[in-house]
Amino acid sequence: MSLVIALNRGRILAECLPLLAEAGIEPDEDVRSSRKLIFPTRRGGHKLVIMRGADVPTYVIHGTADIGVVGKDTLLEAPPTAGYYERLDLNIARCRIVTAFAEDAPPECLAYQPAHNGAFRVATKFVNVSRGFFAGKGRQVTIIPLAGAMEIAPTLNLADCIVDIVDTGNTLKANGLKEHETIAHISSRLIANRASMKTKFDEIEALLSQLRAAVERRGQADGGGV
Ligand code: PRP
Repeated sequence: MSLVIALNRGRILAECLPLLAEAGIEPDEDVRSSRKLIFPTRRGGHKLVIMRGADVPTYVIHGTADIGVVGKDTLLEAPPTAGYYERLDLNIARCRIVTAFAEDAPPECLAYQPAHNGAFRVATKFVNVSRGFFAGKGRQVTIIPLAGAMEIAPTLNLADCIVDIVDTGNTLKANGLKEHETIAHISSRLIANRASMKTKFDEIEALLSQLRAAVERRGQADGGGV
C-alpha cells in the first residue's frame, strides 16, 4: 500500500528530502522549483504533500496523510492530542526555543520581572510553550502573540522579552538582542497517524527502519555530537 507523506516546507523540507532519497523515496520533479504541492514519487506509489508546519499534524491526525515530518517546536505548541504517534527523531533542522532580551536589559528584566509597574511582557508565536515555561518558573507574564518578526518587539517596547527559535543567533544579534535561556532543543520528527500504523504497518515500519539507518549513518559521519 502507498503512503501519503506530509512535509513541512522550508528548511525542514530541504533537509528531509535527502533522507527520504536515501530511503528510496524521491519526488518525480524538483519540489523546490515547482509550484505544485502534491508530488508522486518514483517508487512505491507514495505521495509527498508540501505544506506549512502547523498544518502537518492536522493532516496526520485526520489520516489524510499517513505520516508527516514536522519540527518539534510545532508539536510542542500544538494542543495535546492522541491523534498521532511521534515515531522518529530525524535529527535535522536542529535549533532551540529560547528567551531573548535587549542587550542592555536590566537585571530584574533578566529575572522575568517587570522593570516598571505593570506586567512583564513576552512577545512570541509560541504562546503555549511560553505559558508552560513561565508557569513552571512561577512567573506571571502577559503573552503578546505575534506571527513573526519577534526580534523587533523589545526594541520598539512592545515586549520585555521574546520567546523564539534560534539557530545561528545571527537574527538576534542583528536586532540588538541576546539569548538568555534555552526552553527546548528542537529537531524534526516523523509522526504517524494511529490508524495508519495498523492498516499500513509494514510500509510504515519499512520506511522507518530505512530512515533510522540513514539518520544513524549521518550521526556516525558527524561524530554524533549534539
Ligand atoms: C526563525 C526565527 C528567527 C530565525 C533565527 O525564523 O523566527 O527569526 O529563524 O535563525 P538564526 O538564529 O539562524 O538567525 P524563520 O526563518 O524560520 O522564519 P519565521 O519564523 O519568520 O517563519
